Amino acid sequence: MPAIYKKIQEQSKNANLNADLYEELNSSFKDNYYETWSRLAKQELFWKKDFEEVYSQNEYPFFSWFKGGETNLSYNCLDYNLEEFGHKTALQFVNSDQEETSLTYKELHTKVIQFSSYLKKIGLKKGDFITLYMPLSCEAIIAMLAIVRIGAIHNIVFAGFSSVALAERIHDTKSNWLISSDKAYRKGKELELLNTSIEASSTSACENIIVYNRSGCFQKEDFEDKHPKINFYNFENYLKENASHDPIEWLESEAPSFVLYTSGSTGKPKGLVHSTAGYTLWAKLSTRWVFDIKNNDKYWCTADIGWITGHTYLVYGPLLNGTTCFFYEDAPDFPNKNIFWQLIEKYKISIFYTAPTAIRTFMQWQKEKAITEDLSSLRLLGTVGEPINPKAWQWYYENIGNSKCPIVDTWWQTETGGIMVTSLIGVDDMKPGKAGKALPGIEVFTCSENSLYIKRPFPSLARNIHGNPERYHKAYWDNPELSYLAGDSALIDEDGYIEIQGRIDDVLNVSGHRLGTAEIESSIIKAPNITEAAVISVPHEIKGEGIVVFAVANDQAKAEDIHLQIKKDIGSFAKPEEIFLCKSLPKTRSGKIMRRLLKDIAQRKFPQGDISTLEDSEVIEALINTVKN
Ligand code: WT7
Repeated sequence: MPAIYKKIQEQSKNANLNADLYEELNSSFKDNYYETWSRLAKQELFWKKDFEEVYSQNEYPFFSWFKGGETNLSYNCLDYNLEEFGHKTALQFVNSDQEETSLTYKELHTKVIQFSSYLKKIGLKKGDFITLYMPLSCEAIIAMLAIVRIGAIHNIVFAGFSSVALAERIHDTKSNWLISSDKAYRKGKELELLNTSIEASSTSACENIIVYNRSGCFQKEDFEDKHPKINFYNFENYLKENASHDPIEWLESEAPSFVLYTSGSTGKPKGLVHSTAGYTLWAKLSTRWVFDIKNNDKYWCTADIGWITGHTYLVYGPLLNGTTCFFYEDAPDFPNKNIFWQLIEKYKISIFYTAPTAIRTFMQWQKEKAITEDLSSLRLLGTVGEPINPKAWQWYYENIGNSKCPIVDTWWQTETGGIMVTSLIGVDDMKPGKAGKALPGIEVFTCSENSLYIKRPFPSLARNIHGNPERYHKAYWDNPELSYLAGDSALIDEDGYIEIQGRIDDVLNVSGHRLGTAEIESSIIKAPNITEAAVISVPHEIKGEGIVVFAVANDQAKAEDIHLQIKKDIGSFAKPEEIFLCKSLPKTRSGKIMRRLLKDIAQRKFPQGDISTLEDSEVIEALINTVKN
């Protein structure tokens, strides 16, 4: 396989970010870093009130961008686009029954104003946290845009999380409002989202649930009788609101737009707080630059709104650019394994953004059934979430892109808010397995042990960990240079292309989902007859990494109990591949679990490297035997 694929000339010439603009931006950033951001912010965003100071450093490591300015994310997505795109389709949605719903920018604008009024009427105000636990739907996006419009702060929880995980996230933000739906549909099954939501609300003291009637059969009264402590609201009542009164709030640049939880190396998940102006600016620019969105594109990002990719590149980034966003409610194998290709053919999708784990799954499925759909509408492909192995890259390039579509392998994180590293279709050739170079305005470097840093704060970077500034400081800024520690290890080649090698901390990446070993371990030890646990990951053909558990257990212990416990505390997507019940774990004399030994043992390899710090070397042999049986 070639190590380099040349950029596609046709598209390269007409790219939004072509070589000339790229040069201009880079030299502008180099000479006048802050002025360049200031110019871009003025050019791209609607400012109700102009900002006074482009950047200010607060007490280390906190910082502000565009201080003194006032804007609104929802306004920039909708009102600011109405003149040009009012009659253009903003959202095109297909549900599990293959029924289609479309909303123009004008229609979406009206609904968002109505929903904003509804939220205000029932008591929501600026600065309130509101948790969202919903299936992918136009309604969820209407809710997001309405929440940020009135200056409330959304806290979206992926609907695959369990009620315990949901409760934890409601509790941490002290949110007294939850938007959920009665049901969700996945692969022909009905999921009881409202029951999960009620369970979570009861344990987290959340008093208000707004219920979207997804099934069409929801009756508020049935639930009110059973749960007198909770106030239920019909989501659909928003449609009764008068659309001529707009309750928009103008927000200070640094006002939080949303909080989103992700896993860290220790402790509980952390709620990353994103800003209003800085986030909006980068969502807009990065989408236009990386996905090269043009007026007639039909763009499909397959992420769920429960993850940062769904926030920035399903909703905000594309809408800020007046894009037509296509999205699908159900799984890639429902109702059949070719559904994605059928949708691309039918809806003439031109830009398609998905995860390596999905691509590897498609590769497998293609062995069972050929892809015969017409995919010629596609012109650009993207991937995100984990390293893409060159073999999967090549398959995607040849089979989905017909060797005519550039691939953007985009590296970024919940924390960075938007894409940091990729190859640009107007500028760069592509190197499978290497994400590419940092975007204009972003500077990355590696330090000891290939640890990846981003030099100085940039506008879209998360401002804090909700309720835990010390953790924010410690996790990302534990260096005097004010460089952001990404938590990944990376190699940078002679052309400046960055190859991400994976996490350097105890964070796993399973099917592109981030999970902390500490989080899984603290769930496991709640299972009966388990006293201690170590979670590691091993390479997995489809998922990238698979979870393996070593649990110290007595003779009554059952692996099934561990599965149930993880499902209860986190969700089914965190299911381990293998569970080994054992009598002890390999530890150093100071009591630290030697995970690297466990990694070898789980892969049926004899542990490599230094074991001189191991307290009890007989543990190794016992574990090798456990794994054998
Ligand atoms: C971690 C962040 C960014 C949205 C989805 C994940 C890994 C992400 C890539 C890529 C190699 C990648 C990193 C990163 N990652 N994109 N293109 N190549 N690794 O967001 O859940 O915050 O996870 O995902 O390890 O640190 P997240």
